[in-house]
Amino acid sequence: AYKAEDDYDYLFKVVLIGDSGVGKSNLLSRFTRNEFSLESKSTIGVEFATRTIRVDEKVVKAQIWDTAGQERFGLSILPDMIYMVLPMYKACASYNSCFSVKIRYRAITSAYYRGAVGALVVYDMTRHVTFENIERWLKELREHTDSSTIIMLVGNKADLRHLRAVSTEDAKDFAERENSFFMETSALESMNVENAFSEVLTQIH
Ligand code: GTP
Ligand code: MG
Repeated sequence: AYKAEDDYDYLFKVVLIGDSGVGKSNLLSRFTRNEFSLESKSTIGVEFATRTIRVDEKVVKAQIWDTAGQERFGLSILPDMIYMVLPMYKACASYNSCFSVKIRYRAITSAYYRGAVGALVVYDMTRHVTFENIERWLKELREHTDSSTIIMLVGNKADLRHLRAVSTEDAKDFAERENSFFMETSALESMNVENAFSEVLTQIH
């Protein structure tokens, strides 16, 4: 049977990365379902959603991948995962089994980035540390994708104006140095979310 949603010219994979709590999942739900949740839980594992848009006469299906920003750097992991992960770290210390743990982690990371032609690298403009960590996210992204991948630096939570901790200028300069696009967004107010995703999808190819 004919299904309109399967009728597209291009399928582009776009990944969302950035620290935990910066709003990746809400940017995704705002863009794909026009939904926002104030009490969203930290993402477990990998999720993805799609949305089809028109770009220069072509129908582009965006497949957007989302994962948790935590547990990637060091031991800051979900409370309900600590029981699972702690024994692994203990085993690592006593039996030198770090090797297999690291391989497993790398396999998941590679699968997440594999085939990605665009990336939204997100920080929370009210928490400066999430901006500082962007460098590490870009490093991981570049290790796993080729140099043609379109990168959009996204400063989310722009609605929290009185709590701003990262200036637009600093972020703009940084994005320029890193050869990436830049936008400030608010998933809550639906500000620039559409623009950020469609700019990435427009720049691909
Ligand atoms: P992980 O899955 O843990 O990596 O986090 P995440 O980056 O997916 O963050 P998530 O989308 O779950 O949002 C974290 C919190 O920030 C939630 O309470 C959201 O409601 C809130 N939030 C997300 N976007 C915005 C925004 O644009 N403005 C405001 N004020 N809050 C937001
Ligand atoms: Mg999430």
